[in-house]
Amino acid sequence: MTFEEWMRAVLARVEAALERYLPASAVEPARLHEAMRYAVLGGGKRIRPLLVHAAGELTGARPQALEAASAALEMIHVYSLVHDDMPCMDDDELRRGKPTVHVKYDEATALLVGDALQSQAFVVLTDEAALDAPAQAALVRELALASGSLGMAGGQAIDLASVGLTLTRPQLETMHRMKTGALLRASVRMGALAGKAPDARALAALDAYAAAVGLAFQVVDDILDVTTDSATLGKTAGKDAKDGKPTYVSIIGLEASRALAAQLRRDAHDALAPFGEHARRLAELADLVVHRVS
Ligand code: IPE
Ligand code: IPE
Ligand code: MG
Ligand code: MG
Ligand code: MG
Repeated sequence: MTFEEWMRAVLARVEAALERYLPASAVEPARLHEAMRYAVLGGGKRIRPLLVHAAGELTGARPQALEAASAALEMIHVYSLVHDDMPCMDDDELRRGKPTVHVKYDEATALLVGDALQSQAFVVLTDEAALDAPAQAALVRELALASGSLGMAGGQAIDLASVGLTLTRPQLETMHRMKTGALLRASVRMGALAGKAPDARALAALDAYAAAVGLAFQVVDDILDVTTDSATLGKTAGKDAKDGKPTYVSIIGLEASRALAAQLRRDAHDALAPFGEHARRLAELADLVVHRVS
């Protein structure tokens, strides 16, 4: 199977799982459920679900387990995007090529969409048809840690507190590892933990891979903000400089940022060496993260 064929098959399963795990838009409160579905369905690159599946294939996880882990991660990710776009945060009007949730609906609805998606993610992870009790507990803990104040939400707090400041490179790296890296790292760990428990060395190798890919992802996001147009990105380009956000491009420049992304891609590949051919999909996903155009 080529990488493209593999991706198409995984994406179809992920889309179906999200559809299944979201309340129908006819269920009351219908406007909230409609807005949740508007935010989640039919858009986005689904990088986190792809990482879940690639890692899960290494440990022989069942498809149902990977679908649940993928849907939970994507729900947390979309919640973070919906809140990130609100006027109190980045104040963006375009996301995945469509009006943001607070523009299409209203601010209170956007707030509640994020809240409800966050809760629904944990409902999904405790689906006993998908995951046995020990796996549920392990995955709930991974996702809660990665999305809370020591992960995504904490990174977002640092991001907002850093507007107009020149961060040191270690400060910038910490912010990026938290706001974006944490959920990507959790994707790899949750995929692996959904299968046959990997030994400590395998988990450490996967962790090194995920740390490199997680940081690379936000370095590339910073680069694309200055090199790509809004139509291609599906979100407003040039927003970071306009808002005075410290980014890799603003701190070390475009060329050094590109070199860093390339180095992180090599680090990710090196970390996969113990797995050989079995980790092919993870290697291909590292390439996708670094070479993507949106
Ligand atoms: C955008 O994430 C926000 C960041 C964490 C950088 P993605 O680039 O994965 O957004 P979608 O899911 O494809 O829309
Ligand atoms: C996003 O960082 C991080 C999270 C949403 C958690 P950005 O603010 O750079 O993401 P975009 O560029 O709006 O997608
Ligand atoms: Mg932001
Ligand atoms: Mg933003
Ligand atoms: Mg960005």
